[in-house]
Amino acid sequence: MENTFIMIKPDGVKRGLAGELISRIEKKGFKIVQAKLFQPDRTLVEEHYKEHKDKPFFDKLVNYILEGPVMAMEVEGEAAIEIMRKMIGDKDPKLAKPGTIRGDFANTMNKNVIHGSDSIESTNRELDLWF
Ligand code: PPS
Repeated sequence: MENTFIMIKPDGVKRGLAGELISRIEKKGFKIVQAKLFQPDRTLVEEHYKEHKDKPFFDKLVNYILEGPVMAMEVEGEAAIEIMRKMIGDKDPKLAKPGTIRGDFANTMNKNVIHGSDSIESTNRELDLWF
């Protein structure tokens, strides 16, 4: 069993996609073991994305995540990190395949609906941060 941190970003929550996305996760056979809908503060979001703090998109990314409540989740299942990343799809909507979450619901990298941890180390760090 493996756990991963998943966040439905503000555009996903605002557009009413949370139910659909949770349904996809559950239909895949994964279990949501913790979830909370809440408004994060700047400190939390900057810490979450700290490895990107020198990138040109950092401020825009942080401000976007602060736009509204997010749904933070801990998802459990076999190979959950890798499989969830596949289900989420490429961050660039031009590369995200149809059938993936971003392939179906995102048309810009600036608002790409959902985040999933990319390794065991980032999962542990992000779960500690958000829960
Ligand atoms: S990179 O380019 O290698 O640093 O990208 P990556 O490690 O995949 O994660 C970058 C996160 O920032 C979000 N984001 C962008 N990335 C690249 N370019 C632009 N313009 C951009 N805007 C936002 C991207 O979706 C990743 O966030 P998460 O939440 O992990 O998907």
